[in-house]
Amino acid sequence: MTNKKELPVIEVRDLNISFSTDHGRLHAVRGVNFELYKGEVLAIVGESGSGKSVSAKAIMGILPPNGRIEDGEILYGGEDLTQISEEEFHRIRGKKVGMIFQDPLSSLNPIMRIGKQITEAILINGNKLKEMYRELIAPEVIALSNEKTKVAAKIDRSAFELHKLAETHKASHQALKAKYGEDKDGLKVALDKLRADYASAKATHKELVKSTKAATKLVQKELKAELKVAKKAAKVEVATHARTLKKDYIEQVTPLKLRLKQTSNRETKKAIKTEINVIKTAYIDKTRLTKTVAKQMAVQVMEEVGIPNAARRYKQFPFEFSGGMRQRIVIAIALIQNPDILICDEPTTALDVTIQAQILELILKLKRERELSVIFITHDLGVVANMADRVAVMYAGKIVEYGKADEIFYDPRHPYTWALLSSIPDVDSKERLEAIPGTPPNLVYPPQGDAFALRSKYAMAVDFIEEAPVFKISETHYAQTWLLDERAPKVEMPKIVSERIRISLEKAGKKDGK
Ligand SMILES: Nc1ncnc2c1ncn2[C@@H]1O[C@H](COP(=O)(O)OP(=O)(O)OP(=O)(O)O)[C@@H](O)[C@H]1O
Ligand SMILES: [Mg+2]
Repeated sequence: MTNKKELPVIEVRDLNISFSTDHGRLHAVRGVNFELYKGEVLAIVGESGSGKSVSAKAIMGILPPNGRIEDGEILYGGEDLTQISEEEFHRIRGKKVGMIFQDPLSSLNPIMRIGKQITEAILINGNKLKEMYRELIAPEVIALSNEKTKVAAKIDRSAFELHKLAETHKASHQALKAKYGEDKDGLKVALDKLRADYASAKATHKELVKSTKAATKLVQKELKAELKVAKKAAKVEVATHARTLKKDYIEQVTPLKLRLKQTSNRETKKAIKTEINVIKTAYIDKTRLTKTVAKQMAVQVMEEVGIPNAARRYKQFPFEFSGGMRQRIVIAIALIQNPDILICDEPTTALDVTIQAQILELILKLKRERELSVIFITHDLGVVANMADRVAVMYAGKIVEYGKADEIFYDPRHPYTWALLSSIPDVDSKERLEAIPGTPPNLVYPPQGDAFALRSKYAMAVDFIEEAPVFKISETHYAQTWLLDERAPKVEMPKIVSERIRISLEKAGKKDGK
């Protein structure tokens, strides 16, 4: 539930992401803001290409190499994920955030038994003493690598600005040539100015690199020294811990072994042996995660996500499962590390309607039982009607409407949300009532004004010139459309949407009335 007093688990602030492509820079995400609270489902809804997956990938730190976060923050536990090192990201991503993709087949390895795929991640860190050492020195390791990352990011950002300047200059170069035509002298003066501008920007960049490197040198030296001290202390602590475990083990086992030698009764011998084995297993469990325990954990998660005969199916390959079961396996893989956050990117699109409903039910159950915070991405508002606590409607790289599920479904304000609501298949006829006309804009050249204007019959002149501010409708409900401006003419939402709202309110009312 949204609790304003509670801090969000994830807070995305003014996120801007672009891709370098053959046709120029593509602005996939353009100033996105949202927050995710503990135990809630936030749905991100929008047509293909609106930037849903790219936003999710940024949170996971898995943007493709040609993509970059140009600006903004992704705060997790108060820490900005766009500014941290790979090491720290790995820890957070692996353990705190799980992600499920659309196509379960492509996220599973077809030639590896599913049990192994589920346990893989936990067995990697299976040596508990090594893991303890890593945990002990983690703050210092992270501090050092964060400092390195911070420096690299600063230099990189400056280099990127320089690169962008070069790109604009290239375009200006062409423009100037056309402008001056035969006026060679005029052209020379203009080009010289361009060159001088670039040279000065380059010099500034070089200066920044130099001063940044100089500033970090001492800091890094200190951090390295701290890391050295931490490593030494951690080694001692781990060794002491290991010795204590061993000592306890020997103290428990020695008298038993003695008794074993002294007795000749077969029954007693057997009982003592069993007892020794129990102690031994407990000892091993404390030092490393054994395959047996990992399997127990995996089978338990498989049962939790509703895979029947989990223990038997543990050894099977992905092709032996149906599409719905494979998606359950993918969910099990995401859950085995006990994440706080689950990002589901169109997890049901490839499934038929009945199976889709079961997976949605499962995600809701997991959310409740594990108090997971869920980001659920879909192009179909209908899918999230019964599961989302809040909804962010995304169009052309922006969130155009944002609110509690009830606000979006019963009091939608943005023409794009109306269009999405009109295109939800009807529950009874299963027919899509109204397809949204036209196509989303090319994000290499984001349109001026409201990106949806060209496709919207509600567009006003101002929509083609200037983007609307974000209007606040309630404490929790926002929309970015000029229709909410006091000067705008009063327009009603499309009949088909108001009619649907009326019907669903009626249905809900009836239910409540009984
Ligand atoms: N690696 C890439 N290189 C260039 N452009 C990319 C890349 N990945 C995504 N894009 C572009 O970024 C924009 C947003 O893509 P994204 O995958 O986030 O869309 P989406 O909302 O998830 O859509 P869908 O419903 O199709 O999954 C699109 O215009 C897409 O073409
Ligand atoms: Mg996508």
